[in-house]
Amino acid sequence: MSPRHFLTLKDLSSDELKQLLLRASELKKIHHEGTLFQPLKNRVLAMIFEKSSTRTRVSFEAGMAQFGGHALFLSSRDTQLGRGEPVEDSARVISSMVDAVMIRTFDHKTVETFAKYSSVPVINALTDDYHPCQLLADMQTYQEHRGSIEGKKVVWVGDGNNMCNSYINAAVLLDFQLVVACPVGYEPNADLVAQHSDRVKVLHDAHEAATGADLIVTDVFASMGQEDEQEQRLKDFAGFQVNSALMAKANKGALFMHCLPAHRGEEVSADVIDHPDSVVWDEAENRLHAQKALLEFLLCQ
Ligand code: CP
Ligand code: NVA
Repeated sequence: MSPRHFLTLKDLSSDELKQLLLRASELKKIHHEGTLFQPLKNRVLAMIFEKSSTRTRVSFEAGMAQFGGHALFLSSRDTQLGRGEPVEDSARVISSMVDAVMIRTFDHKTVETFAKYSSVPVINALTDDYHPCQLLADMQTYQEHRGSIEGKKVVWVGDGNNMCNSYINAAVLLDFQLVVACPVGYEPNADLVAQHSDRVKVLHDAHEAATGADLIVTDVFASMGQEDEQEQRLKDFAGFQVNSALMAKANKGALFMHCLPAHRGEEVSADVIDHPDSVVWDEAENRLHAQKALLEFLLCQ
């Protein structure tokens, strides 16, 4: 039987996702109480990183340790993957020795190919197209602060990137309305938007989009791998900063989220991200709890 993978949010059913989010909050409570819970004793997660990371690496590595297991950090700089060993061969070999594999890479096809040849679950820890692990944490955070997100208005401001595509999938599974406000030419995946036109609307005016929002989310203008476009993007994204004027258009009590790392003064103003009510630190911490729920789901069925 082929293993369950987590390459996009759509690898979960709506009910599975909702259950997983509740479990993430339970695991958070267990952890904060200091209770030992080790369902993954002696299990090993291989973590392949072809791009930088702080949150993803620390949360998966700490999560595996807390569960009684172990995590292996594999950089493409130090493994044969970085010297051109085929993904298919690497998948067969690595998955024969560990219990799950987490991959952060560029091309989404790489995680799909790895999963095809892997005998154990594969987790997408960010590709150019999707970042589903971050959505688990974001959705857990919304639920913990404001209850169910069903029927709410979520506004994505900025680049139609990997995070934005994952927000479209979340809107479908958790039944909320997503409005994307981006400059012309920076829209999210066109097929995904067309497929879910009942849930997602794309606008090119951030202030129009933000009106009546329950949650406003943004991300850097230039993602990893787009560093040489930074200057051009700074110009193209003028008018797409989340600041207090934009937040004022949203509903009272609207939350602001950012997957981090953030560039204060570019996609978000310091007063918004550093506001005493900002939930971005909870959002970051929830990467740990949400991914522990994911590991438990994939490995303890
Ligand atoms: N949000 C996020 O994935 O952070 P890292 O790049 O630090 O892992
Ligand atoms: N869109 C960003 C997310 C970083 C967590 C990137 O891909 O670099």
